[in-house]
Amino acid sequence: MEALATPETIARGAYLAMNVTGCIACHSDVESSQPGDPLVPEREGSGRDWGVVPGFPGRIRAPNLTPDPETGIGRWSDGEILRAVREGVSRDGRG
Ligand code: HEC
Repeated sequence: MEALATPETIARGAYLAMNVTGCIACHSDVESSQPGDPLVPEREGSGRDWGVVPGFPGRIRAPNLTPDPETGIGRWSDGEILRAVREGVSRDGRG
């Protein structure tokens, strides 16, 4: 399964990820010393270690979602990304 990659669909996806769905807000480092915790410039989507969050088990880490093939999701198919978001199942089948 492959998503359309037209300039319009890419702009729509960036708008949704940056402004509506919260993907980039959770998956990015922030400048917590600044008012409003702005995102660290040039590191959008590269992951964030939330540490221990009260009410959640273990340590929460939002992985790197950039297209980097080694540290991000650059090797994932669109279907694998869709499955992760919809079903909570990672590329390697980890649920
Ligand atoms: C509330 C914070 C939050 C939001 C909002 C969020 N994520 Fe995540 N995401 C996480 C965390 C935390 C994990 C790691 C879950 C785990 O390890 O079990 C994760 C995991 C993932 C993974 C799996 C990565 C892997 O290596 O297995 C993908 C892909 C992903 N998120 C994409 C998205 C997309 C796309 C959106 C927006 C539609 C989004 N996330 C919104 C916190 C968030």
